[in-house]
Amino acid sequence: MSDTLKVTIDGQSIQVPMGTSILEAARMIGGKLVPPAMCYYKPLKGSGGKCRTCLVAVTQGSEKDPRPMPKLVPSCSTSVMDGMVVESAISERVTEARQSVTEFLLINHPLDCPVCDQAGECKLQDLSFEHGKSFTNYKEERRDNEPDDLGDKIKLNVNRCILCYRCVYAAEQLCGTRDHGVLYRGDHAEISTMIEKSLDSDFIGNVIDVCPVGALTDKTFRFRSRIWFTEQWNAHRSCDKCCGKVVLHKIDGQIARVSARKNEWDEVEEWICDTCRFDKKENEDWTIESKRVPKSKSVQTLNKYSDNSQSVYVKVEGLGSERPKELE
Ligand code: SF4
Ligand code: FES
Repeated sequence: MSDTLKVTIDGQSIQVPMGTSILEAARMIGGKLVPPAMCYYKPLKGSGGKCRTCLVAVTQGSEKDPRPMPKLVPSCSTSVMDGMVVESAISERVTEARQSVTEFLLINHPLDCPVCDQAGECKLQDLSFEHGKSFTNYKEERRDNEPDDLGDKIKLNVNRCILCYRCVYAAEQLCGTRDHGVLYRGDHAEISTMIEKSLDSDFIGNVIDVCPVGALTDKTFRFRSRIWFTEQWNAHRSCDKCCGKVVLHKIDGQIARVSARKNEWDEVEEWICDTCRFDKKENEDWTIESKRVPKSKSVQTLNKYSDNSQSVYVKVEGLGSERPKELE
């Protein structure tokens, strides 16, 4: 028996190792057929299966049992079977389901992108852009919670949270203990700390990077700049707690924010410690490696970079600043 399984997604076939999920197989093929994922996060064990944005249609279960699966299935938590045939971007049923899930995720969202620090790198913003509807059926009052503090460096805006559980898994798996989680059930469910306990761990800052929306943001960077106005640099330092490899976000040459490096799926490549993230904001703390072009496609990168990932900034006479060449 072969160790690999054949799966066909939107007409494209690939051999994948046993145990691969449909979502991971789609990522191996790449392109438009890759389902969006708001809760699945490969580096975090147990993630996925919460948000339903990754739904796909299985039109043939396997070579042995070719019957289709009656319902759409979450691609992040459904394993590939040999001979499986899947429809993702080409299926009208899937397109409609993704639109409805997007509308559902947005019903309690404050839609405050103009003042939200996550704008430009928000996965919900990207999801609405690619899979959203231009209207909502929701007429009821939206949730309206006061922002909260998770310790002295992290801000929690509960009304932006989509309850993906990524931060809960990150705290549990990176910090050993966690002092926050999901309280209550159903439409009352919310991320919270019991009695506003501060989160005391060298790696808790990673919850900011895994949060797909602006529910968890870096208090040291809030309201300092829109992300697309910062210059991003790969840099490293020698650190005894983490890999020390980060992205520096600079404004006028000064470090405004430090974050982990992410891959094209917006997943952290290597976790970083809070010392690197919050306490090393001087240029001499870091060795610069290269200018960074974000790997994922997002609102932030629109019109800013060419397809071969080379920066295409040009100097604009008299403005003393740079703007994308495409806008010339
Ligand atoms: S705070 Fe962010 S990471 Fe945590 S559950 Fe909510 S959306 Fe997910
Ligand atoms: S990404 Fe699959 S259910 Fe959320």
